[in-house]
Amino acid sequence: MMKKNVLITGTSTGVGFETAILLAQKNFKVYATMRNLAKADALKERIAAENLPIEILPLDVTDNASIEKAVNTIIRKDGRIDVLINNAGAGFAKTLEQATPAEIDWVTDVNYTGVVRCIKAVLPHMRTARAGHVINITSVGGLVGQPFNELYCGAKFAVEGLTEALATYVGHSFNIKFTNVEPGGISTEFMKTAISKTANEKGEFATGEYAPIFEKYLTSAQERAGGEGSGVYQTGKEVAEVVVAVAENEHPPLRIRTSQWAKDFCALKTDSDPDGTKLVEAVIKYSF
Ligand SMILES: NC(=O)c1ccc[n+]([C@@H]2O[C@H](COP(=O)([O-])OP(=O)(O)OC[C@H]3O[C@@H](n4cnc5c(N)ncnc54)[C@H](OP(=O)(O)O)[C@@H]3O)[C@@H](O)[C@H]2O)c1
Repeated sequence: MMKKNVLITGTSTGVGFETAILLAQKNFKVYATMRNLAKADALKERIAAENLPIEILPLDVTDNASIEKAVNTIIRKDGRIDVLINNAGAGFAKTLEQATPAEIDWVTDVNYTGVVRCIKAVLPHMRTARAGHVINITSVGGLVGQPFNELYCGAKFAVEGLTEALATYVGHSFNIKFTNVEPGGISTEFMKTAISKTANEKGEFATGEYAPIFEKYLTSAQERAGGEGSGVYQTGKEVAEVVVAVAENEHPPLRIRTSQWAKDFCALKTDSDPDGTKLVEAVIKYSF
């Protein structure tokens, strides 16, 4: 029997690509969406080679109309959406002072408002069904603010807050589950995209007084990432395995880190309540 259906965003590469394949291999019915169908060839090859239950649909998380269209297509076919995975996202490492207003809008739109739009589009269907699971791929950057990542971290923190709040009343009132998956570094296209989005025409990430501070940060980041067995970086597939385990879990956590490194990095924030259960229960008790 076909298991649950899943709408996932950002499946052209990386975690989204690997998660779509892994879910389909486990017999989920996958609606793999991407903003640019010209990037669908790799996924199409895997679908054909393994006869996977994946349908590719266009969806740009910054475009409400494209989200509505994809959701309506799935509802017309299946009458329901069981799992929404908000995976689409993009990195950006630039100081708040030196980011342009357009860059600030963009990084927030892709990483935060896009998640709001997708949840808003799917929630009425999950509420009617009294069932559903929203999984957001956030980051350790959604729990711990890091240098030069204030705009990206701010957007990921916002996703964490959004999800926590929804879990306190939409969750238990309508049997809809919410999970934030929080990876550390992942070796995907992410860094390449982040660099191309962040650097100016001279290839600089920070200028003036910020330049030497950025240089120091970059050197330290490169040393840490390069260290043998540093554990900082996972593959997209390793992260996808955690996402799929969460999708299969009947009692999923509110939040989960995807590696030991990510757990250690966030420990000061999460030690007292690693999966967020205590927090949500305390807020529900306080509020109702
Ligand atoms: N890589 C890391 O170090 C890292 C660490 C922690 C968390 N994360 C999070 O993990 C998630 C997946 O990232 P990844 O590492 O797999 O990076 P990736 O390989 O760069 O994949 C990002 C995906 O998001 C898509 N995307 C970007 N803007 C979009 C939009 N407006 N509408 C729809 N899709 C859009 C990209 O599509 P295009 O191909 O069209 O650009 C791509 O499919 C992201 O939410 C990211 O923030 C990544």
